[in-house]
Amino acid sequence: MKELEILEKFARENHIPVLLDDSAKFLAEFVNQKQFKNILEIGTAVGYSGSIMLLAGQQANLTTIELNAESYNKATKTFNGLGLGDRVKQLLGDAYEHICILNNENKKYDLIFLDGPKGQYLKYYPLLLNMLEPNGCLLADNVLFKGMVRSSQVVPHKKRAMVTKLRQFLKEIETRDDLQTTIHDIGDGIAEIYKKQ
Ligand SMILES: C[S@@+](CC[C@H](N)C(=O)[O-])C[C@H]1O[C@@H](n2cnc3c(N)ncnc32)[C@H](O)[C@@H]1O
Repeated sequence: MKELEILEKFARENHIPVLLDDSAKFLAEFVNQKQFKNILEIGTAVGYSGSIMLLAGQQANLTTIELNAESYNKATKTFNGLGLGDRVKQLLGDAYEHICILNNENKKYDLIFLDGPKGQYLKYYPLLLNMLEPNGCLLADNVLFKGMVRSSQVVPHKKRAMVTKLRQFLKEIETRDDLQTTIHDIGDGIAEIYKKQ
């Protein structure tokens, strides 16, 4: 779709990280196959992945959280411009605070797309698991972070803390007996996580 191509170009030119092409394709197919009803997204950015999910899942409603006000406003324009505004609830502010509130309100989702600050996945994911409907899916992007997470090469100092936390996150989701996890080597690495029923 032309509008999405323009939005992706805008994001790349403005150094706003959005889904890589392979990940966008995967996400669209995944949402289209499963036809989710209630989706929560952590990390709206400019509304690129959110729009992809809503266009692929015609029955879906999206709640999406973003810290940066400028991106939040741009995302509002994106959703309205694509005629998706009435299926979106945008939340502005820190994801952890919103996640705690949604969790306290006992909100449930059949898909949670985790694409916010990578160093926080470890902190967010127990609450997010609690917010999944039975058979709901937690999808986390960038879990292999530029190949650094599973590499034995030295990680650049600036990325070290984040990569260490992502490694711990992967270790937990891959070894917990109550979870079923698949790591897709697509784009920057996508984890598909379910609670065993
Ligand atoms: C990888 S981008 C999201 C990309 C978007 N999902 C897409 O593909 O179109 C991550 C986003 O998380 C936002 N973010 C960073 N820290 C955050 C926080 N503590 N709470 C909420 N959002 C945060 C950033 O501003 C950024 O827009």
